[in-house]
Amino acid sequence: MAQMDISTREDIVLLVDSFYEKVKRDELIGSLFTTVFNVNWGRHLPVMYDFWQNMLFYTGSYSGNPLESHRRLHQVFPLKEEHFNRWVVLFTETVDELFKGERALLAKQRALSIAAVMKIKILNTSTN
Ligand code: HEM
Repeated sequence: MAQMDISTREDIVLLVDSFYEKVKRDELIGSLFTTVFNVNWGRHLPVMYDFWQNMLFYTGSYSGNPLESHRRLHQVFPLKEEHFNRWVVLFTETVDELFKGERALLAKQRALSIAAVMKIKILNTSTN
């Protein structure tokens, strides 16, 4: 049972690494990462550490545009609502397995709300 909140960069690294280990093993979305989009993990993971550090601690460590990135991914391979839903389930599970507290809650809320925006903006339209 997780007891500690997310509080350091090391915690973020553990969270992100554990999440993607789960993702890679998932029967619905694993192959999107390992095969379809053939993610370069050495490049992607540090971006995600920076992204989550910024999300939870406002460090200014991330300045990308995830909406635009996923719009492009969607053009290569059409993402579906169920993919986003699974992503959120796996992320939430990972947080709950490892952490407990205010930041852990914030991480889950952020993931859920970004996924909701992505679903609305990316899935519902083809032009905007
Ligand atoms: C269907 C669900 C999703 C899939 C299949 C997916 C897949 C991917 C892939 C393939 C990349 C690019 C990795 C690379 O550099 O090669 C990426 C980047 C990223 N994803 Fe997702 N993703 C999903 C949902 C989400 C959600 C809900 C979030 C919200 C936290 C998120 C956050 C990010 C961020 C921040 C990046 C880095 C974007 C950048 O700066 O370029 N993703 N994702």
